[in-house]
Amino acid sequence: MTVIKEKDFGTPERQSDVMVTLKIDGQTVTVPEGTSIMRAAADVDIAIPKLCATDMLESFGSCRMCLVEVEGQRGTPSSCTLPAAEGMVVSTQTERLAKLRRGVMELYISDHPLDCLTCAANGDCELQDMAGVVGLRDVRYGYEGESHLDAVKDESNPYFTYDPSKCIVCSRCVRACDEVQGTFAITIAGRGFESRVNAGINEDFFDSECVSCGACVQACPTATLTETAIVDHGQPDHSVLTTCAYCGVGCSFKAEMKGDQVVRMVPYKDGGANHGHSCVKGRFAWGYATHKDRITSPMIRDKITDPWREVSWEEAIDFAADRLKTIQQKYGRKSIGGITSSRCTNEEVWAVQKLIRAGFGNNNVDTCARVCHSPTGYGLKQTLGTSAGTQNFDSVMEADVIVVIGANPTDAHPVFASQMKRRLRQGAKLIIADPRQIDLVRSPHVEADLHLPLLPGTNVALINAMSHVIATEGLLDEDYIRERCEIDAYEDWLQFIKDPQNSPEALAATIGVPAEDIRAAARLYGTGGNAAIYYGLGVTEHSQGSTMVIGMANLAMATGNIGRVGVGVNPLRGQNNVQGSCDMGSFPHELPDYRPVSDDDVRGTFENHWGVTLDGEPGFRIPNMFNEAVAGGFKAMYVQGEDVAQSDPDTQHVEAALKNLDCLIVQDLFLNETARFAHVFFPGTSFLEKDGTFINAERRINRVRPVMEPKQGKEEWRITQDLAQAMGYPMSYHSAAEIMDEIATLTPSFANVSFGFLDEVGSVQWPCNDDAPLGTPTMHIDGFVRGKGLFITTEFVPTQEQTNRKFPLIMTTGRILAQYNVGAQTRRTANSDWMHEDILEIHAHDAELRGIRDGDWVSIKSRKGETTLRAQISDRMQPGVVYTTFHIPETGTNVITTELSDWATDCPEYKVTAVQVALTNHKSEWQEDYHDTIDILRQVQVAAEPAE
Ligand code: SF4
Ligand code: SF4
Ligand code: SF4
Ligand code: FES
Repeated sequence: MTVIKEKDFGTPERQSDVMVTLKIDGQTVTVPEGTSIMRAAADVDIAIPKLCATDMLESFGSCRMCLVEVEGQRGTPSSCTLPAAEGMVVSTQTERLAKLRRGVMELYISDHPLDCLTCAANGDCELQDMAGVVGLRDVRYGYEGESHLDAVKDESNPYFTYDPSKCIVCSRCVRACDEVQGTFAITIAGRGFESRVNAGINEDFFDSECVSCGACVQACPTATLTETAIVDHGQPDHSVLTTCAYCGVGCSFKAEMKGDQVVRMVPYKDGGANHGHSCVKGRFAWGYATHKDRITSPMIRDKITDPWREVSWEEAIDFAADRLKTIQQKYGRKSIGGITSSRCTNEEVWAVQKLIRAGFGNNNVDTCARVCHSPTGYGLKQTLGTSAGTQNFDSVMEADVIVVIGANPTDAHPVFASQMKRRLRQGAKLIIADPRQIDLVRSPHVEADLHLPLLPGTNVALINAMSHVIATEGLLDEDYIRERCEIDAYEDWLQFIKDPQNSPEALAATIGVPAEDIRAAARLYGTGGNAAIYYGLGVTEHSQGSTMVIGMANLAMATGNIGRVGVGVNPLRGQNNVQGSCDMGSFPHELPDYRPVSDDDVRGTFENHWGVTLDGEPGFRIPNMFNEAVAGGFKAMYVQGEDVAQSDPDTQHVEAALKNLDCLIVQDLFLNETARFAHVFFPGTSFLEKDGTFINAERRINRVRPVMEPKQGKEEWRITQDLAQAMGYPMSYHSAAEIMDEIATLTPSFANVSFGFLDEVGSVQWPCNDDAPLGTPTMHIDGFVRGKGLFITTEFVPTQEQTNRKFPLIMTTGRILAQYNVGAQTRRTANSDWMHEDILEIHAHDAELRGIRDGDWVSIKSRKGETTLRAQISDRMQPGVVYTTFHIPETGTNVITTELSDWATDCPEYKVTAVQVALTNHKSEWQEDYHDTIDILRQVQVAAEPAE
């Protein structure tokens, strides 16, 4: 259990080689130069009264509560703004100070509702606390004067309220929005008595630029900004430290609880990835865990047209095991397989891949990384030797040039985006390569130095053109290359990249960006100091996804930008545990730690430990499973926490494959889209019920701790274990901790990891073993993991998916802040107030040509299929390119996407689909069919409800 209120040191920590020693209330304190008196005092547990100061924000010095006396100095300076100096003698508690503080407090309280007993913040209010600390007993001015007590509340935001009657205008909220979140959505408007917090230009919070990150709510020392959940449930009585289950940033949170009811999620100040910050999803969108749609009983059915039958766990597991065994007897050992979940813990994933390898007797296991970052795994492993990013997030604070390629951090990785924006406000340069004008191109106090709006599908041409400039303009780091890289491969690459066909001038028309801009970007990257690349699915989800990852690694090696803080090549991973699900051996050709299944020694280690003979042949990838299912030879799948019917491309093909299975087992919180085709439904657990670990985009292993019992009565690894036993394989763990112990035993990068160790150190970045006992924040420091870095030539090969007269536009897809992936979780929260339908963004020129106005219904059609959605005319788009999201099942965005994929990994080419867009007044055929199947699913749910 974690304390509910973490210690607040009043002002941020300072780093300095120079230390100063002073005396505070008779105690000797030594602190780094630049530390405030307030923080120095807090270091020795002397709490100076304060209201406008908090250690998440720079000091402001407005409330005058923290006054101190300094020997030899006149006046009473505020301790939050006064730096500690050598030899100072400070008093924090004197009669004079007490009187001054009481006077200040009287002024605050004379204009305050004084409804403490019924106030939601009662017990968690710094104003209340300070009134007690300064010994306020009376207000000499009375309460009759002009006041703010009738000020109107703003309750527009579903997650928090703003009650101006309680505001003390300390500005902590404004500073939190500026300094921590970087959105600059609120200001203090007016002067003196008229001062008040304003969202936008007299808008309410909901309609303003506010992104509901909650930083202002957390910073507010009064009940002015208060979580709605606190108003509803009251103050928490205990808290548990855990990890967000949404994106790959992996923010640490305190789940604050009242009994087994979550009251709020508060970002944890010591969280290694988030340092006390959060976004709207992790902080507020956790209500899905107890949503009424949640299924908590196992269910089975003979045919997918039958009603579901709620059964006991035992019956469901026996039913599934019998079917799987019968199918294997009839169609062979390799006719079944499974998919592990990047939303589940490492321990849950480990159990599933082990079941498949040891229990099913084949390697037909894959994970959703197949459809997102598998090219990252391949490209970085080939060039550098490790299938993961090179840095920790904090490294960005040392970057001088930040390159964002095919990623939209403010929407998809918001907490890291806030950190990045902080660095940009300090002066780092920014290059963005993206077909769309993402927020980072221009937002308050941040403006990209270069935006390269390349055409979708031309990433490799761009990276080649940039590398060409580096190679031909004398910007190579020859010493670094000669010392750290394979020279023959480098010489081959150099010859290739110097070829004029790779020059910006030769490729500008293909890329759609002027040659001089490409040259400028390359020069900035090559000469601007520490240069760091951050990239997302706009890099990987292409037919040359792996080539592009290799191209970025080449560029970084060529300029010496790998192997120290502030540089690197960093994938922004999508799902919370996608790194972990890959690390745990979820690929059909690799055992845990990315070791080939064909390696006899590696296999032998696992065989000895698991007591079985393992298959040395790689198994099916997800697309192979679907193809084989359509062909009729692959008959059963165990799908853990994925919704392939919505998330995977070419929906019609996926649905045909799922319909052809004799046994589809879906393990999830909800009857998702894939469950429409399932025979067995194993209800899963939310992150609030899980015990285990997640691994974020920076390889950080974070604990996930249960705050309540599993609502369906069984931990997920036990479901898998029971299924294994019913299949005849004796899996026999007693706890998730025991699974981590096995992971550590069999996975060299995790050798020193255990629950006990993580509880002690907080979190750790792998590799964590005897060579790196406290983990590895930065990779490849003394050399590359593979030995010498490997340059690989990256010939640009245009995708087969080309526009033509029938399909003249390119559709590309992405995410939005409020929703997450297929939306299964966020659609069941108030986040849908911000976004409840997928929208097609289209440039005004393309819209006008088609007679489309803002808000019109349009059909979008590719060679694969058609769907209907609403259009939004957007100046973020360039002519010829349209954009949408895939969060809402009814939209069926993946009905449009194609079968094309990355040459090396089969990662689908989601980002390039040739389409036509036209006005329409009806739903597509697929959407009509979809509604029929959903109606059937709902009917069977009703039919399955037990009789009164
Ligand atoms: S919730 Fe976040 S974005 Fe909105 S006003 Fe508060 S700090 Fe700013
Ligand atoms: S809303 Fe809260 S944090 Fe903001 S100025 Fe008012 S009291 Fe301070
Ligand atoms: S940034 Fe990601 S991990 Fe952090 S709170 Fe938001 S969704 Fe959760
Ligand atoms: S806490 Fe120092 S002036 Fe407010």
